[in-house]
Amino acid sequence: MAKNMNYLHRKKLNAQKITMLTCYDYPTAVLQDKAGLDVIFVGDSLGTNELGYEREISVTLDEIIHHLKAVRRGVKEAYLLADMPYKTYENPDMALVTAKKLTLHGADGVKLEGLQAEIVSHLHNNGIEVWGHLGFTPQHHDKAAVQGKTFDSAKIVAESAISLQDAGASMVVLELIPEELGKVISEKLMIPTIGIGAGRFTDGQVLVVQDMLGINPREMRHAKNYGNVGEMMLKSFQAYANEVESGAFPQLTNVRHMKDEEREALLN
Ligand code: KIV
Ligand code: NA
Repeated sequence: MAKNMNYLHRKKLNAQKITMLTCYDYPTAVLQDKAGLDVIFVGDSLGTNELGYEREISVTLDEIIHHLKAVRRGVKEAYLLADMPYKTYENPDMALVTAKKLTLHGADGVKLEGLQAEIVSHLHNNGIEVWGHLGFTPQHHDKAAVQGKTFDSAKIVAESAISLQDAGASMVVLELIPEELGKVISEKLMIPTIGIGAGRFTDGQVLVVQDMLGINPREMRHAKNYGNVGEMMLKSFQAYANEVESGAFPQLTNVRHMKDEEREALLN
């Protein structure tokens, strides 16, 4: 059965952790869905991880939709979330147009950054499932840094999370905050929290898929390497190039043949 918002909320009630990864393409979506991930997420980290941009703010709505459509074709069971890109939710009307485009192309819900209570409530009142995103928010901060380290800033993050819930957010992502703050917010909120670099006690976890496959050259404290896929890709590319150059590939088993008479006729 397809996983809906009810399912995700029930998981929190039953103290079961929610699993989530980013995804930007069809084959990865098929595998993540098959692996039983709860949430598959076309984030605007598309920009830095897949498209080679310096920052997430370069990602356009059309680019998100292009990848969302591919991921949609691969997702059968998981909840499919899409990010609202930078400057596509400047006011409630613009936000609704953006959100409707994303849901039209297969998103089950949309995520936006910061304390945008008015926008969240407008989308919610129009039947859109909205996810908030607090702490470090790449659309507003240009360098990754832990947020909410002082009491005052922690209080702002916690109060913002409650305001998002009150405005009608269904979920909230917490990025790069102290573990204690992640725990307090997760206990205070009825809606589930999903952490990335937010400690062990959020209601679920998300990682950027390249970060956990070892495809990214960078190393991050909050991520964990679950497979040296990057190293495997590099070795495969090198082996292929070497074999083409040496003539070891293709071999007889990799080729198709014509009938002798057809070959003769072709020559004449
Ligand atoms: O775009 C993204 O990958 C995100 C996650 C880090 C939550 O917003
Ligand atoms: Na994002």
